Formats: sequence, C-alpha cells, structure tokens
Amino acid sequence: MPERARPWAEPFKIKMVEPLKITSHEYREHAIEQAHFNTFLLRSEDVYIDLLTDSGTAAMSDYQWAGMMLGDEAYAGSKNFYNLQANVQKYYGYQYTVPTHQGRGAEHIISQALIKAGDVVPGNMYFTTTRAHQELAGGTFYDVIIDEAYDPSSPHLFKGNVDLEKLQDLIDRVGATKIPYINVQACVNMAGGQPFSLANLLLVRQLCHRYGIKIILDATRAMENAWFIKNREPGQCHRTCAEILRDMCDLTDGCTMSGKKDLLVNIGGFLALRDPALYEKACELVVLFEGLHTYGGMAGRDMEAMARGIEEAVQDQHLAARIGQVLYLGKLLQSAGIPIVTPVGGHAVYLDATRFLPHIPQSQFPAQALAAALYVESGIRAMERGVVSAGRNKITGDHEYPALELVRLTIPRRVYTQSHMDVVADSVIECHKNRQAITGLEMTYEPKTLRFFQAQFVPTQKREPLVDLPALASTHFIHEPSLGKG
Ligand code: F0G
Repeated sequence: MPERARPWAEPFKIKMVEPLKITSHEYREHAIEQAHFNTFLLRSEDVYIDLLTDSGTAAMSDYQWAGMMLGDEAYAGSKNFYNLQANVQKYYGYQYTVPTHQGRGAEHIISQALIKAGDVVPGNMYFTTTRAHQELAGGTFYDVIIDEAYDPSSPHLFKGNVDLEKLQDLIDRVGATKIPYINVQACVNMAGGQPFSLANLLLVRQLCHRYGIKIILDATRAMENAWFIKNREPGQCHRTCAEILRDMCDLTDGCTMSGKKDLLVNIGGFLALRDPALYEKACELVVLFEGLHTYGGMAGRDMEAMARGIEEAVQDQHLAARIGQVLYLGKLLQSAGIPIVTPVGGHAVYLDATRFLPHIPQSQFPAQALAAALYVESGIRAMERGVVSAGRNKITGDHEYPALELVRLTIPRRVYTQSHMDVVADSVIECHKNRQAITGLEMTYEPKTLRFFQAQFVPTQKREPLVDLPALASTHFIHEPSLGKG
C-alpha cells in the first residue's frame, strides 16, 4: 500500500539543549544602544532567538559529532580530506575539491584564478562577499537576474532565474572574452532566498557554451534550491533532491561552497572543480591564502563533519522539515498581514521594510531600524539586507539604494522549534502594531568594505542617555538559567 501523505515533522529527536536567556525590555533598549543599533554588534548572550543568520549556526547530528572524534590532524593528506572529496564527487559530481576555511575563501580563490582587471562577472544578483572578491580581483559585477526578483510581491516561483536577454546583451556589449564566468547562485540570498529552475540553468548553459563562458555555481544553498525544483518545477516531483542537485551541478563547471549553510557545519567550505588546469591554479592559490590543498584552513575533524553533513543535508526528509519550518513562519506572518517577500524562500523570511515602515526614507536605513526595533521588542536578532548591506557606488561614492530594503529572519537548521517560530511571529506582529514609534537612523561610523558588519548608528530622534549595562543586567533579567546550582 502506498504511504499516506503526512504533515512534516523534524526527522530527529533532541539529545542536548542549550538554555536561552530572556531579558527585559529596558535591558534590551540599552544593549542595542551599546551595540550602536547594529545587530551584528550585540553580544550573543543578550539574544533570545538568534535569527541573524543560518550560517554556521546549525545543530550537528550525533553522526557528525562522532566524525569529529575521527579527525586525522595530519598536515598533509588527512583521511578526512579524502572522505570530503569522495562525497563531493558522489553528490555534487565535481572531480576536484579544494577545502577552504569558509565560502569566501573559495570565492577569493576562484576570483583570483579567473578574473583579470577590466573583466565583467555577471551573476543572478550580487552577494556581499562574492562581489567584494570579484572587485578585489579587478572585475566588475553585473546583475543578470530577472526583474521579478526586485518585486517583493511578485508570485514568480523561480525569482532566482537568470534573464537570458540581459546576459546576451552583456555578451554583445563587452564581448565574451571579458566575461571569465557567470556566477549562478542557488536560492539567491539578497532576493529573499529565491531559487532558480533547472530549465533556466539549462538555457544559461546553452548560451554560455556557445561563447565559451564558464558557469560557477554558488552552491551554498543548492540543496535547498533542489527542494524547490522538486516541489515547484513541472516533471520534477518524483525525483529525489539528490538527483536534482546532481543535475544542477552537471550543468556547471565548478562551485564555491559555504558549508556553514546547507552542509550543517559550524565552519568550513570548499571550491570544487572539473578542469585539472584550473584545479592546479587553485592549488597554487590555496597554499598562499588558506593552507595546504588537503586542508585549506580546516581542521581534519571539521572536514569530516562537513563530509558527513553532505550525506544528511541532501536527504528529502531533512529538506522538507527545514524548508517547512521557514514556510510555517512565512505563513503566520502573511496571514497577519505583515509585508514579507513572497513566495517565501528557503532559509529565511524577509520583512519588507519599505512597506513595514513607509514613514522612514531609505536614506535613514529603515531595515536597520526595524532589525533594532525587533530586538528591543523581544530579544530576537535579525539582519539588515538593504541600503547598509548594498554599500557605496564605486564610482560616485554615493549609497547604493537597492530596490529591496529587507530585514532577514534567518532560520538556523535543526536549532529552533515551531514554538520558537510562534514567538517570532508574535513579536513581529507586535512591532508592526507599534511601527509608527520606530524612527530612522543616522550612520556615525562606516567601514570601507562590507560595512554592514561593523557600521554604527544613532537614532535620528535622540533618547535618554545610556546607563551602565552590567548594573542593569543583575536586576532586569526576568529569567536566568541557574546552571550548576542545587
Ligand atoms: N554565498 C552566499 C550565497 C552566502 O550566503 C554566503 C554567506 C557566502 C557565499 C559566503 O560564505 O560566510 O562562509 O564566507 N552568507 C552568510 C549569511 C554570511 O549570513 O547569509 P561564508
């Protein structure tokens, strides 16, 4: 008899827990002030539910932790490297693996290996570190994502698709010799975690093949993209995510990977390639910037955890529960009338700060202000993905004003429960009720690159002077876990 369809539930049970601290409203007001209204500058211990990122925040399984004990910490030729390479070959299909300390290490190497000064690198929307490394290598990023990606309420199911006309126009304008590769990102982060379709990637392949342009996949969330293909693309529903992932990779020449997302580890990444000559070049660069080509900045135990993470993360059951949880939060918010990016993507629900806070102009960083207000409301930490993240125009020096001004509620993998999602929805709804009280921000400190990580702000409307945070800490916690007592 065929299996009856059931609602999804986490395909695991919990073996170890980490207590959370709940702070008072007054405590949080001061904590955000001390963090200069930048959620990256908050102390993690002052956060209740941490939705800053899904990067490096997953809970590892007992199988992965067991692998940690089997770390072969040899400088050269660690057996964990060979296990990792074997699983990359098996599940992604690329012959060569160059481990890196995390995704941006791989981006650095591929950019240095392939980009010459004056080159243009098309991509389906920018990602912060990816673009920064392309620019560092002398290239210029060029956006070829479809227009629907910029419309937070467009119902397009594959907003991560490449616009073939935009790509063709670029090739006609600058010539294929100026385009070393196209960077195709799975589940496009800055667009709201939006997937591309297999059909679109095939068309990209055909076009690029005609001009000899390589395709480098940003496979950071490729398994989650595969789940969307399975569930949304005609003819794909009877296939496994593993089969679809393999098809995606087979259309590309290599990938960069931040293992901290899909692959359920706290640190690690890799560059994977087919071409032996390019691999040789990558090996020369990796020893300079990361470490020997068989560890690339990772401990043996971490490579083992990532090798095992690949096996777990590609399972349909895991992906259904992981994305099911994100969609659950999206549904709660949508049914309460909160403006969010739809369709909801794979790793996060994105609040549309433009519609949430129409009274704050983009020059006063509405998404940054909303992330700070949400923290004060409930201790939930989110991340700005708007004008602060977009940085400044390289030529004019002005802020880039992106079409999307978003706050990302990013769900770590296998960490929080449905009840946490209920609390998150409740807090966002409360913030929305009181949105008129949220004021804009002014930037008082601005780092030159990737400014969103360390920028500092003050509210445009002044508040009471700061009191001492540690003094408050002892009196204002509603609850503090009493570890080791009794
Ligand atoms: N590519 C994508 C699509 C990413 O989302 C990230 C990181 C990277 C590359 C870089 O990888 O952090 O391991 O060096 N995204 C994190 C985030 C920072 O919070 O979205 P990394």
